[in-house]
Amino acid sequence: MSTFLKSVFFLVTMALCPLSAQSAQPVMPSGQQAQPVMPSGSTAQPVMPSGRQAKPVMPSGNVAQPVMPSGQQAQPILPSGDTAQPVLPSDPPAQNVLPFGEIAANSEPTQFRQSTENAMPQQNAIEVSAVEDLMREHGVLRRVLLIYEEISSRLESGTPFSADLLAAAANIVRNFVENYHEGLEEQYIFPHLGRAGIMVDVVATLQKQHAQGRLLTDYIITNANDMAMQDPTQCAVMKATLDKFIRMYRPHAAREDTEVFPAFKGTISQEEYDSIGDMFEQQEQESFGENGFQSVVQSLEPIEQALGIYSLGQFTPTVSF
Ligand SMILES: [Fe+2]
Ligand SMILES: [Fe+2]
Repeated sequence: MSTFLKSVFFLVTMALCPLSAQSAQPVMPSGQQAQPVMPSGSTAQPVMPSGRQAKPVMPSGNVAQPVMPSGQQAQPILPSGDTAQPVLPSDPPAQNVLPFGEIAANSEPTQFRQSTENAMPQQNAIEVSAVEDLMREHGVLRRVLLIYEEISSRLESGTPFSADLLAAAANIVRNFVENYHEGLEEQYIFPHLGRAGIMVDVVATLQKQHAQGRLLTDYIITNANDMAMQDPTQCAVMKATLDKFIRMYRPHAAREDTEVFPAFKGTISQEEYDSIGDMFEQQEQESFGENGFQSVVQSLEPIEQALGIYSLGQFTPTVSF
């Protein structure tokens, strides 16, 4: 068969069999691409050529946003080789802001003060419940116990320290822990438990420990001076006094946190509990100013820094078993 006849035969065959081995393609206006028609309610995805991904059709001007699992953020798709840079509202100025509780060991106190004031939130703006209030006050007590522990250690080893630091810490105990915090416990917490007949013996012990603690603090305040701290006998008595205070108040605060405060909460209605919480906050502001708790915490920091016990990281052990 000649080449001419072969061509004629092929054209006739194609005209008679237009659908053989081909998919119907709708006729689209120039430049548009056909979208597959899916049954109503179907979530099937159009089949795309290998290596390509279907993109949802958005109304003009909209940009499709991928749905991400909760808590995840979509990352912009960048051309190959580009590196994504997060877009910030505005670049914050570089500042030496240290998170609360973290400070380089060799930082100057003045630098630290500025940094801390910038970094610490105004915690009194946050409403705290009565028990939360009491427990964070125990946090102040625990930090004083650490100061006492450091000074006790120095008294034993003969390492010098300024007696003013001890006096300052003891005055925080007197004003904040004893007169204020323990005053709240004795005025509000213990009477509620007594009326309910709950933990009566424990409360009696706690009250006795408050009284003994005040006697110990009397001694510490009276003798926290450089002259007394140069006398070996007085140093030994001071160390014993600090140790007694530490020994008593660690279990004291722990028992209150874990048993006494929860029991107190169980004896009163939610309305009464909220009312007592408001009263605690009001008394705190009246006693120590609008940012009362925060100011007490800040008064601890220079003492801790001067004694070299502020940096939290120093208490992390190196573990190698
Ligand atoms: Fe107490
Ligand atoms: Fe307490």
